[in-house]
Amino acid sequence: MKILILGVNGFIGNALVRRILQNRDWEVFGMDLHSNKLGDSLHHPRFHFLEGDIAINKEWIEYHIKKCDVVLPLVAIATPMAYVKKPLLVFELDFEENLRIVRQCVKYGTRIIFPSSSEVYGMCPEEFFDEDTSTMVLGPIHKQRWIYSCSKQLLDRVIWAYGQEGKLQFTMIRPFNWIGPKLDDLDAAKEGSSRVVTQFILNLLQKEPIRLVDGGFQKRCFTYVEDGIDCLMTIIENPGQAADGQIFNIGNPQNEASVKDLAYLLRDLFRHHPDHVHDSHYSQIIEVTADDYYGQGYQDITSRKPSIEKASRLLGWEPKTDLRTSLQFTLDAFLAEAKEKNWES
Ligand code: UGA
Repeated sequence: MKILILGVNGFIGNALVRRILQNRDWEVFGMDLHSNKLGDSLHHPRFHFLEGDIAINKEWIEYHIKKCDVVLPLVAIATPMAYVKKPLLVFELDFEENLRIVRQCVKYGTRIIFPSSSEVYGMCPEEFFDEDTSTMVLGPIHKQRWIYSCSKQLLDRVIWAYGQEGKLQFTMIRPFNWIGPKLDDLDAAKEGSSRVVTQFILNLLQKEPIRLVDGGFQKRCFTYVEDGIDCLMTIIENPGQAADGQIFNIGNPQNEASVKDLAYLLRDLFRHHPDHVHDSHYSQIIEVTADDYYGQGYQDITSRKPSIEKASRLLGWEPKTDLRTSLQFTLDAFLAEAKEKNWES
């Protein structure tokens, strides 16, 4: 099998390519702006990497969409601060550039596995979000946070419509707060543009306050990346074509925690880490308003829990890693990286 992964150096891409090269005989073609997360994969004989921008290297992409059996377009801006501060960039990259890829998959009859997002459910009031029955609830237009959700949702609908017309073989995946090594760059966290776990780890390293937005009562279900990759591998293999025409939530409903609980748990793990057990002091945990943290275009999701009944039934998948272990692995990897780069405060 030949696979094209755009955004291969990203959080999901780098973990996926490593797993494929280790466990399968597939050939992987990958593009990204950077290669810093790829490690040994870069030199693997079955991995062909081009450093470049998907908005520029259009011919290379079209050629490889034609040549490959399956495409995973993982390029996207996926941090809430960017949705609020750079909404047009989010639309151009996450929607426009990816629409072009979708259309080329239609043109060449190439299978696509598209990363939708847990964000598409927005402020859905249901306890468990279901791929095929849940209502999607977004805020008003001036709440620019929703541009990502809306861009992803519209692409989901476009892909679905091509599928209905028999023009596209697709699967959509909805990751629910995946965490793990290389989640975001610590430098991005310095700019305030990273997801919550990376942000808190940076705060702990820098001994600066951990900031709970609006008290940190909002809940998420944190999913360990390697569990998510297990599911993705089955989707790529597609036994009995079980994944065709389906949307799958990929999350861990057992790992639900409020942002406040997350902050205390991470600080506790940090305090017990061998490199930090003797630190003279640790980050405070404080509360800030959403307006102060993100600006006025932000709106939050109070609770976001996936139903994973479909992934279990059709793919035989269950997540295995509990919250504490997932955070421990993630923290250990970030601290090892920070130490290696001599990166402290
Ligand atoms: C994320 C992002 O939109 C995407 O990465 C992705 O599509 C999706 O969720 C997912 O991974 O499922 P969200 O969970 O809101 O959205 O993003 P985070 O930045 O990780 O924030 C989680 C919560 O922590 C939010 O309520 C946020 O306000 C809070 N937070 C964040 C803090 O309280 N303090 C901080 O310093 C940072």
